[in-house]
Amino acid sequence: MKDQIKLRALDISHYYESKDGKLVHALNNINLSVKEGEFLAIVGSSGCGKSTLLHIMSGIINPTKGQVLVSGEPLSFTKHRIGYISQSDTLIPWRKIIDNVAVGLEVRGIQKKERHRIARELMETSGLSGFEDKYPYELSGGMRKRAIIIRALATNPEIIFMDEPFGPLDVFTKELLQDEILKIWEERKNTIVYITHDIAEAITLADRIILMSYRPSNIKAEYEVNLPRPRDIKEDKHSKDFVELEKCIWEEIKNEVTKAREEEMHSV
Ligand SMILES: Nc1ncnc2c1ncn2[C@@H]1O[C@H](COP(=O)(O)OP(=O)(O)OP(=O)(O)O)[C@@H](O)[C@H]1O
Ligand SMILES: [Mg+2]
Repeated sequence: MKDQIKLRALDISHYYESKDGKLVHALNNINLSVKEGEFLAIVGSSGCGKSTLLHIMSGIINPTKGQVLVSGEPLSFTKHRIGYISQSDTLIPWRKIIDNVAVGLEVRGIQKKERHRIARELMETSGLSGFEDKYPYELSGGMRKRAIIIRALATNPEIIFMDEPFGPLDVFTKELLQDEILKIWEERKNTIVYITHDIAEAITLADRIILMSYRPSNIKAEYEVNLPRPRDIKEDKHSKDFVELEKCIWEEIKNEVTKAREEEMHSV
């Protein structure tokens, strides 16, 4: 990992206005720096504002207050290559898998032959060879997630934002995909900002973990993950360092989860 700061969130605050006119204070004065090539995970209770922060850092929405810098400059889609995988991302049902993977390249005006070459290469590295001409409904849930991930990688983004990309998958498929993400990242060293509810997943993947407080959310704690790389997904889980860190993060997050539950119960 280089020591340059790739991404910086400066004094980010954000309010939403709900339909009944009430203001929801989602984020409060968040300051965050991500180094070039760093794998940063963000955890926090449901509804605390993780997706909001990701939307802001990836330029999808403007914050009520604050600024996002990429390599020291204001984030710009013409200057910076940003990849984004949302919580509910899906493939386009009427497009073959290869054309789904290549969609970002198509938007950038890359010729069909070249975009298919890039897509084929990515499909091969992620075990999707042979499925180029299939349609999304012909793939398993795990394969579709894989296609969504390589679709985001196809344009070779400097920063990739991932919002719970494996949320609803079973634990076995999740582990296989985590392993693949790590392999791809270790090869390419893009900067990754990764949201997850799963503390073990955050420890397995990340260099550093940020824990967000409940609303109005800010950074409650920060943890370095000092497990050696390349990581061994199966073995690392049993190491003393892993277990201690997991316990420590869980203790911190417990209060925030309780606050979130109480708030949800009062709002229905
Ligand atoms: N477009 C919107 N309009 C109004 N309120 C919103 C909007 N998007 C999010 N919110 C509110 O802002 C708060 C933060 O939402 P956000 O989706 O960022 O949380 P989250 O941490 O990603 O939750 P989860 O873990 O469940 O995905 C919530 O109270 C949510 O209801
Ligand atoms: Mg979310």
